[in-house]
Amino acid sequence: MQKLKLTKAVFPVAGLGTRFLPATKAQPKEMLPVVDKPLIQYAVEEAYSAGIRHMIFVTGRNKRAIEDHFDTAYELENELEVAQKHDLLALVRSVQPDDMNFAFVRQPRSLGLGHAVLCAEHLVGNEPFAVLLADDLMVGPAGGQSVLAQMAAQFERLQQSVLAVQEVPLEQTRRYGIVAGEVVSPGLMKVQKIVEKPAPEVAPSRMGVAGRYILTPAIFEHIRRQASGVGGEIQLTDGISSLLTEETVYALQYQGKRYDCGSKEGFLEATVELALQHPEVGEHFRNYLSGLKLN
Ligand code: UTP
Repeated sequence: MQKLKLTKAVFPVAGLGTRFLPATKAQPKEMLPVVDKPLIQYAVEEAYSAGIRHMIFVTGRNKRAIEDHFDTAYELENELEVAQKHDLLALVRSVQPDDMNFAFVRQPRSLGLGHAVLCAEHLVGNEPFAVLLADDLMVGPAGGQSVLAQMAAQFERLQQSVLAVQEVPLEQTRRYGIVAGEVVSPGLMKVQKIVEKPAPEVAPSRMGVAGRYILTPAIFEHIRRQASGVGGEIQLTDGISSLLTEETVYALQYQGKRYDCGSKEGFLEATVELALQHPEVGEHFRNYLSGLKLN
């Protein structure tokens, strides 16, 4: 049998970002910068590091800045060229490498993550694909593979859907899709059950899904069958639960760290930790922080 190859990534960016109002009133949450890069660029770079070159964005109202960010900025590039600011010019151009291409599709209403993924069906076609939620900023282990690259390596071997999971505190199960299953090798589980945002008393485990998925195209039919779930939205988790009746789905406990940048706390943690590692400002920022009186 011919091996399935992962070439496409879907970025659902049509959410309302209500937890970040008023910052997200007129601009997408995915354009909020952590130090000097917007969240969406971290996610696109992660997909690129996993060998993906075809990036599909599911956008909504007020999301034009994302399209512009991945387009050529003629005036800016021209100004930088004239001013001979070659480093900045290279930095601006590195956002869209020549071998990367982009497609955009609109989700007309925020009907949920499952619905957003379904909006990309005609661009994905009958192929496996990755889903990256840019508000989950994932940092791989120092010197190691990115989280999506770790998942892509497992997909290459298993040829079945792979979800990224992490252990979450019991009192936080309501914030995640929670999976339970059979451990088949260290860090890898065959999923038997997946539930969206369960209360701690009924959560089947403490393994929470982070915003990275590799899915087979069979998922589309299963999402289509879903009625609205938790929060009145069409949930991707419910689609995956239905997919389990037909295909094997794996969950990978990834190496690395996740920052929930959809919340203010997670966004601040990412900003502080990534600033400390930043080659340009890291040292200054460390000195600044160590001089702060925190109590
Ligand atoms: P969130 O649950 O974080 O929702 O969506 P949100 O609307 O972006 O943010 P809050 O909760 O109001 O602050 C998870 C991901 O799914 C996308 C979001 O853009 C985000 O990346 N999403 C969600 C869609 O693309 N469409 C939807 O209808 C819902």
